[in-house]
Amino acid sequence: MATERVSIHGQWSNRLAFVLAATGSAVGLGNVWKFPYITGENGGGAFVLVYLLCIAVIGIPIMMAEVMLGRRGRQSPVNTMRTLAAEEKLSSHWQWLGWGGMLAGFLILSYYSVIAGWALAYVFRTGSGLFTGLTADGVQSIFSNLVDEPERLMAWHTIFMVMTMTVVSRGVRGGLETATRVLMPALFVLLLVLDGYAWNSGAFKQGVEFLLWPDFSRLSANGVLIAMGHAFFTLSLGMGAIMVYGSYLPDNASIAKASIAVSVMDTVVALLAGLAIFPLVFANGLEPASGPGLIFRTLPIAFGHMDGGAFFGMLFFVLLVFAAWTSAISLIEPAVAWLVENHGLSRIHASVVAGVVTWLFGLLTVFSFNIWSDVKLLSWIPIFHDHTVFDLLDYLTANIMLPLGGLLIAVFAAWCMPRDSSVDELAMGDGFSYRLWRFLVRYITPVAVMIVFLNVIGII
Ligand code: PFF
Repeated sequence: MATERVSIHGQWSNRLAFVLAATGSAVGLGNVWKFPYITGENGGGAFVLVYLLCIAVIGIPIMMAEVMLGRRGRQSPVNTMRTLAAEEKLSSHWQWLGWGGMLAGFLILSYYSVIAGWALAYVFRTGSGLFTGLTADGVQSIFSNLVDEPERLMAWHTIFMVMTMTVVSRGVRGGLETATRVLMPALFVLLLVLDGYAWNSGAFKQGVEFLLWPDFSRLSANGVLIAMGHAFFTLSLGMGAIMVYGSYLPDNASIAKASIAVSVMDTVVALLAGLAIFPLVFANGLEPASGPGLIFRTLPIAFGHMDGGAFFGMLFFVLLVFAAWTSAISLIEPAVAWLVENHGLSRIHASVVAGVVTWLFGLLTVFSFNIWSDVKLLSWIPIFHDHTVFDLLDYLTANIMLPLGGLLIAVFAAWCMPRDSSVDELAMGDGFSYRLWRFLVRYITPVAVMIVFLNVIGII
């Protein structure tokens, strides 16, 4: 039976509005910044293959499950889980899924905002023509100058957090729809321009081979976990962001079609970014495994040499900032919705509280790139031997918290919720598609997440 609940935060006008907002959440730094650098660090093609497989068999079904729970509960993830669990006469501990998600959102946004700050800084660096004619070495030193100075990073991080809080305080529906509708296609076109440049860079074949040719000898157990974690991260799954957006979805919209559309767009953007970056990496003798600075060290080389590079470069980073912005909003929305529901705060007040806490946490990341760059808290654990505080935060959230959140969502949606309820809420009938979904969420996701976890710990 469909519930009569309505969200106190309002509703999307239709399915397209939801698809745009969810795409805005999914497409962000994860696609353009993170995907290339972790692909570079984990050996290329085999990593990408595992990632694509995870998107298809875990990501899409979990997205459907998360949207479904959100729409049924119609509240912030904490309250949605509490309500749905009470309805099924289950333990109220299920609300911890919402709490864990909120914490993951905070932690992710804390570093996400710092990296978005780099992109902001690069809007001005590219726009002023700073990179024109520079060699790879010159480009490297500009990146080092930026991250070496904590004050600078802090300033950009502050600007980005203020931008995020401003939109969130006004409610997520208004501008988001238009922004995503116009800016996403523009980002897509600019990536194609960069791909065109990479095509002529002299090392296109080598770049494509690295990205797409699977060589499993280069993929470790930890690499498999990182690929799986990234599938959750890039689709914004496992922490309630998509759940809270689902809670604003009208009753009659098809969840399956929306989830597939979002996932396909997200994946295409990531692959286009990879296709632009790796040829440049090889053509300029750079190291694919050079870490989180990868795109900031490579793309400016292209902008410095192509006609109109200053303009295109600036436009590219403006669009990247927008993509990051629409993701950042979704990272903080579960917490803001909860503060409004449970503490009676106004949206503005709630956004400021959530934003300030996140900003403070962000300082950990700011310092990881300079004054604390030698602080390796878990260096006694082999896979973390060179992990800075930022690296650890990223690992903890993307590779542990999100898959764990996804696992719990799967267990709730496919084991705890009665079959009739999910048939009713997904509204795709009881045929093959529904059964496939249920099989994937009931068996494949929990088993895959457990196997990958145990494999990294060394138990299997
Ligand atoms: N999906 C976003 C990206 O790829 O940049 C990041 C993100 C947003 C992760 C929202 C998690 C989330 F809940």
